[in-house]
Amino acid sequence: MITAGIDIGSVSTEVVIIGDDKNILGSAVFASQVDMEKTSLDALDASLEKSNIKKDDINYIVATGYGRNNVPFADKAVTEITCHAAGAHHLFPNTKTIIDIGGQDSKAIAIAAKKDGTPRVADFIMNDKCAAGTGRFLEVMAAALNVDVKELGALSEKSTKEISISSMCTVFAESEVISLIHQKIPAEDIISGLHIAIVRKVLSLVQRIPVDDEITLTGGVMKNSGMRKALEKELAPKKVNLPEDPQIAGALGAAIIARKYAG
Ligand SMILES: Nc1ncnc2c1ncn2[C@@H]1O[C@H](COP(=O)(O)OP(=O)(O)OP(=O)(O)O)[C@@H](O)[C@H]1O
Ligand SMILES: [Mg+2]
Repeated sequence: MITAGIDIGSVSTEVVIIGDDKNILGSAVFASQVDMEKTSLDALDASLEKSNIKKDDINYIVATGYGRNNVPFADKAVTEITCHAAGAHHLFPNTKTIIDIGGQDSKAIAIAAKKDGTPRVADFIMNDKCAAGTGRFLEVMAAALNVDVKELGALSEKSTKEISISSMCTVFAESEVISLIHQKIPAEDIISGLHIAIVRKVLSLVQRIPVDDEITLTGGVMKNSGMRKALEKELAPKKVNLPEDPQIAGALGAAIIARKYAG
């Protein structure tokens, strides 16, 4: 059986195609465009090419994420909470808490196992409609610092002094960052301070649901080593799992859920 999951997020669109033993045959990550149907088709084509199969070979497609209802070729739409839970559970079967930090949402999910061993979402919490504690917040700060978002992790690891960032509102935090630049505070210390501020904001959200001793991190922001390290430090001594590609966890979960519907 071959299934596919498509996660249309606010920043990126991922496709994962899995085979009989749930192994990943191909995957692709594209920037989300206004035309969600076109973005998802482009990402599907790229992952079909990588997996060397044809679209007709796919038995079932589940769409998830913010744009999940804009994929006409998907067989079903499933919420990203359920899909992230399925993806994280597949990769780390003992995990009961998931923290996903994406472009516009950060969320924490508590899962419980059903009698058949499959995961059930027991509780979840999401950030309010605000960029604080999200990938977009980091993108705005990276632009203010004139660095690429991909460089934030490595730069923050060079930090030697902890800087406290007091504003979490994107507009005020941007002004604060600009003021710190004018005070000649090194960029690495500002970035490290931003990571700590975001992590504390996200963890204040996470603490509102039951948190297990084993936590799995997902979402594109987990590609930032500075954010990962700051989270691991604040969560210690809890065990923290990181998928090989944290950004595709939701699409992977969608492909796994698709197997159930494919029959
Ligand atoms: N290579 C990278 N290095 C560092 N950070 C990255 C990298 N790639 C993506 N990011 C971060 O990940 C964010 C996007 O995360 P993700 O792809 O999970 O979002 P999304 O699923 O589209 O959003 P949402 O789930 O909120 O709708 C970006 O805003 C950026 O901050
Ligand atoms: Mg997402």
